[in-house]
Amino acid sequence: MQTLHRTGISEEIKKLAEKYGKNRTSLLPIMHELTAKYGRITDEMMQETADALGIRPIDVYSTVSFYTFFNEKTKGKYIVRLCQTISCDMDGKSKVARQLENELGIKFGETTPDGLFTLEYANCLGMCDQGPAVMINHKIFTKVTPGGVHQLLEECRKGKLDKIADMGSVRLNIIKSGPILDNKETENEGLKKALAMSRVDLIKEIRDSNLKGRGGAGFPTGVKWQIAAASKGEKKYVVCNADEGEPGTFKDRILMVEYPHRLIEGMTIASYAIGAEYGIIYLRAEYFFMKSHIEQVIEDRKSANLLGTNILGKEGFNFDVEIRMGAGAYVCGEETALIESLEGKRGEPRNRPPFPVVTGFDNYPTAVNNVETFVAASLIAAKGAEWFTEHGTEKTSGTKLMSISGDCANPGIYELPMGVTIDEMLIMAGGTGAKAVQVGGASGSCVPASQFDRKITYEDVATGGSIIIFGPNRDMLEVAKNFMEFFVEESCGQCFPCRKGNVKILEGIKLLEKGKCSTAYLSELISLGQSMQKASKCGLGQTSANAFINIIQHFGNEILARDIQE
Ligand code: FES
Repeated sequence: MQTLHRTGISEEIKKLAEKYGKNRTSLLPIMHELTAKYGRITDEMMQETADALGIRPIDVYSTVSFYTFFNEKTKGKYIVRLCQTISCDMDGKSKVARQLENELGIKFGETTPDGLFTLEYANCLGMCDQGPAVMINHKIFTKVTPGGVHQLLEECRKGKLDKIADMGSVRLNIIKSGPILDNKETENEGLKKALAMSRVDLIKEIRDSNLKGRGGAGFPTGVKWQIAAASKGEKKYVVCNADEGEPGTFKDRILMVEYPHRLIEGMTIASYAIGAEYGIIYLRAEYFFMKSHIEQVIEDRKSANLLGTNILGKEGFNFDVEIRMGAGAYVCGEETALIESLEGKRGEPRNRPPFPVVTGFDNYPTAVNNVETFVAASLIAAKGAEWFTEHGTEKTSGTKLMSISGDCANPGIYELPMGVTIDEMLIMAGGTGAKAVQVGGASGSCVPASQFDRKITYEDVATGGSIIIFGPNRDMLEVAKNFMEFFVEESCGQCFPCRKGNVKILEGIKLLEKGKCSTAYLSELISLGQSMQKASKCGLGQTSANAFINIIQHFGNEILARDIQE
């Protein structure tokens, strides 16, 4: 990490502004570069950046203070971030945490006196099938044991961290593949076929496939592209939401590491369909380790005329893609918050309408789709809508990548047809005997064993891919507490019901732990959760109480009868 020389910083920031563009949309990339080089962002840097970008210093401060990967105070040379979210918690996070504290002689939130290490907790790192997970600077380490902590820290002390491969110890972990994952050899066939079609026919093909957004919301992709195509704008954008922060979700990790050509092919097809020339992959900061890998793929595709101008000889069809890094904020998985973040602002969701397909990034029409949606779209273009509708249910066609973690023998990625039941997944994953399954991550639904015949589809239980299994001995109040701690940290704080409501429910859970929560108060908390579902501004507050309500509904008796913790 370099020391700051006052005279040099102004010139350096001016150069960064030249590199990324002299406007607010350059703010996050500039802050990332300064953080990587100096380890923090000082007041002076914020002032100089504001001058270089022609914005107010308060705007820079407001953005910097929002994201967990930016900091004003000096931290250690190595920032050790231990995942505290549910799957890692169940995999033994607490023992690793104690070992880290003992080895370093500091508590979480502190820095060692020699300035070498800072210890922090992180929320889901997307490694839920191989927890406990630790991120040290940009490298990820999985299945970390208390016994392995010493060696990990030693590697840092000896200055060997940079020599470890970008992927750290991350495994792909595809346990069951299907039509999407098995079709690697058809890469770029979809793009070639799409370019031979008219835009209208291409969008019709995607509509006929009945592909619904794979991020969890399930909006029909063909309809989204059709509206974006019809929207008027001097420019249009295709944005890939690669910010999978929903606890228990790690399927986009596999797609971006192993199928990045397919992803960018899907984005290129979307750009042709809607008439866009610019694409942005908004990659979560926790996935820094795959950035250079995807950048190389972008370069390779440019060399092969699969990106750039007159792509594959199609006169006038131009499209380029760049990666923009997130900076650690779950709420940016919501598409309007993501756009705000791309614009260099706090990731606070916008009021809708207008929707991004009409007024999106930089106020231009923007089609935002999830990684898996682009991958599926490229295969639909290659193989046709009918091929896709052969799988899944009548209303929700295709297969879906499920990220399965928690109490099971075989956590990992499973590509399964839409309509698969929870029971069927438990048998495959070696999780039979479970008492509950959380479908859709912390914001999803907690399904008890009596309902394991329910199906994974948008008509029954929806999920962007997160399936977390809770074994027979799991304390469900602990589960509810972990989820609510997550939401208290991740609420953007913009609207009152979410900002205060999550805190209130967490207080109630702590009273329940001590056996001090009356039945009347418990009912009040459930009503509060239901009000948050209606009154919150965005999906975060509208869904954060779901798991708590489900858990009280299905496991209330067990919780009230549990041993009291003092
Ligand atoms: Fe720890 Fe997802 S990586 S819960």
